[in-house]
Amino acid sequence: MKQVTMLKKAMKENYIVPAFNFANYEILIGVLEACKEQKSPVILQVSEAAMDYFTDEVLAGIILGVRKMKLPISVHLDHGKDFNVVKRAIKLGFDSVMIDGSRYTFDQNVKLTKKVVDYAHARGVCVEGELGQLNIANDDGENGKESFTSPKEAKEFVSLTGVDSLAVAIGTNHGINKYEGEPKIHYDILKKIEQSIPNTPIVLHGASLIDNEYIETINQYGGKINKSSGNKNLLKNAYKTHIAKINMDSDFRLAYTSAVREYMGNNPTKYTPRDYGYAGIEECKKCATYRITKICHSNGKA
Ligand code: G3H
Ligand code: 13P
Ligand code: ZN
Repeated sequence: MKQVTMLKKAMKENYIVPAFNFANYEILIGVLEACKEQKSPVILQVSEAAMDYFTDEVLAGIILGVRKMKLPISVHLDHGKDFNVVKRAIKLGFDSVMIDGSRYTFDQNVKLTKKVVDYAHARGVCVEGELGQLNIANDDGENGKESFTSPKEAKEFVSLTGVDSLAVAIGTNHGINKYEGEPKIHYDILKKIEQSIPNTPIVLHGASLIDNEYIETINQYGGKINKSSGNKNLLKNAYKTHIAKINMDSDFRLAYTSAVREYMGNNPTKYTPRDYGYAGIEECKKCATYRITKICHSNGKA
């Protein structure tokens, strides 16, 4: 099933398609096991850094392999920064790409995104665009610069580019340190965006919940990471909105690292990577299961 079809179905039936980044093999396997067990559709996301890590040849094989699974799975390029990486991903077999022109002016973003849409659609590949800037999103709009997505611009952007889905900035941020003050997602802005682009599935980046228990375990076993606050209590009702795809990467980094550190700390004589690899897989499976069943409500939707 095409990613845009997966997203429109989710929007109509009030659930969210989880979009989980896989930074390594164990995260991928944990996520797939959870999706199989929960009968959930899933978007497997790969960043450019992850593409380099896996190598193109191996990644192409993984893509062929996951396509054989009896689940709606989309393999998606996350934060494609330019036309070259989009071409690379499509050549490897990705069925969906993100072109992230959010750092450019509106007109430059439109130009780049439209170029990608023309190229990708001609090859049956879906495109996610981004409007608004996550990393500088704040409440006050300093220097008159709007960092949150403007509903008016969203309408224009979608009609000028023809993107299949739109990533918006409504308060979330990437990484494990998401909020300086009180955590807040601006659902009021989201509502206006939904009204301006009623048929376009909306994507939320920076959606990791950030479980402090993971951070505590990491620190208990030799790590040094500050506790943080993520979206734990902010995404409970997101499945009722037009948010049809949520991106989570940091949660799996924490889940995997905490499980491996704990295993190694408790089993100092072990040195076979599969031993601690299984611990990592198990925790990533739990992490995915919680997000599928409690946030996305995508269980049973495959
Ligand atoms: O949104 C960004 C993702 O978390 C990818 O991060 O480039 O370190 O793989 P990465
Ligand atoms: P997190 O850092 O919240 O996991 O966000 C990941 C993301 O948006 C990937 O595109
Ligand atoms: Zn992102």
